[in-house]
Amino acid sequence: MNITMVGSGYVGLVSGACLADFGHRVVCVDSNRDRIEALKAGAIPIYEPELDALVAENVRQGRLSFVADLEAAVAEADAVFIAVGTPSRRGDGFADLSFVYQAARSIARALTRFTVVVTKSTVPVGTGDEVERIIREIQPDAEFAVVSNPEFLREGAAISDFKRPDRIVVGTEDPRAEAVMREVYRPLYLNQAPILVTSRRTAELTKYAANAFLAAKITFINEMADLCEQVGADVQQVARGMGLDNRIGGKFLHAGPGYGGSCFPKDTLALVKTAQDAGVPLRLVETVVAVNDQRKRGMARKVIRACGGVRGKTVAVLGLTFKPNTDDMRDAPALAIVAGLQDAGATVRAYDPEGMDQARPLLPGVDFAPNPYACAEGADALVIVTEWNAFRALDLARLRATMRAPILVDLRNVYRPEDARLHGFAYTSVGRPA
Ligand code: UGA
Repeated sequence: MNITMVGSGYVGLVSGACLADFGHRVVCVDSNRDRIEALKAGAIPIYEPELDALVAENVRQGRLSFVADLEAAVAEADAVFIAVGTPSRRGDGFADLSFVYQAARSIARALTRFTVVVTKSTVPVGTGDEVERIIREIQPDAEFAVVSNPEFLREGAAISDFKRPDRIVVGTEDPRAEAVMREVYRPLYLNQAPILVTSRRTAELTKYAANAFLAAKITFINEMADLCEQVGADVQQVARGMGLDNRIGGKFLHAGPGYGGSCFPKDTLALVKTAQDAGVPLRLVETVVAVNDQRKRGMARKVIRACGGVRGKTVAVLGLTFKPNTDDMRDAPALAIVAGLQDAGATVRAYDPEGMDQARPLLPGVDFAPNPYACAEGADALVIVTEWNAFRALDLARLRATMRAPILVDLRNVYRPEDARLHGFAYTSVGRPA
């Protein structure tokens, strides 16, 4: 198949490289010419494990290419994916669809034969209808179908999520489009990934419902962690005891400093807006959004309590990105935590394996250290905010020896309390008995 990806950002690049790896011919387009030139030269603009090798190999094999000119790429495509950004609109939190509609207009002008136009970006219910209307208005006689095919990729695990998905959701009621989409995903037949064919609106909503449910699951266990701390229970065991029930499932029950990233905060907010507009407010999701926002700020207070105040003290922060294996700082809990510590008078020193370049402009006044040990040196407290693998087996004795005060606040429950205490740390974690 000939596939064109409009948008060579995170989703477009990962999806394009994986589809090329399956044997399709994929052209990735981006209106940002510098980005296209960089990609042609082999520079991957994001950090995602194994993506650079996957791109390089498929470019070498001639299956994957990058162009700035959308027209030729669309004219030859069987399927054109729209994988552009849908940021939160400033002010009202609704998803900003201007990039999606711009892509639709450009695609419309370039259509030459039956083409399936696929929205892969996370878009509110009804966006597919609008994309169809825009294309029809520009080219009334064009032969095309607009399909919703949401992605369920996690940053840091995007390639394996794409190649081994739990399910594929295809929203279309057009049999020709369904056949094209089945062909696009035929290489996954071996994995027996279920393909769920639904109406377009159902597919669009499924994506939001899934993300909101996961955000709610995390928020549920986070609140349970707070309760555990007060009543002397262990949230990890509570989560395990709950999760072994197949109806609940053990994943996404890891208590921490609140969810962040480019998806959950934006998508829950957009879903809340959609539901309000539809006159069916989703109170549960509204609460999840509010509780999670408060939690990130609350984590700074937790650190301050553990230190008995931080004015004039140096706090070392390990991990800044919203989760490991990414350099993404969007809505990272570290942003609220660091700001809270600085507001309370602390000097903050930080280290992150991949996120420091992205973090620098967002964290004024923070000193950045070259490694965890330099970060902790002379500090009055050490706070683990993101559970990078590199923080799982730190030499606690060495850390303890260089710190001014032995306070360890582990917001991801990376360590066993007894191990931390054995090394002389006053140890605070999330939802475990003090
Ligand atoms: C999320 C979803 O997991 C993907 O399925 C979805 O495709 C993607 O959003 C999207 O809509 O594009 P992602 O944001 O990359 O993926 O990251 P997650 O691994 O889901 O983590 C999100 C946040 O939740 C992180 O801040 C993480 O630390 C937090 N989290 C996750 C917890 O605090 N506890 C958990 O048990 C799990």
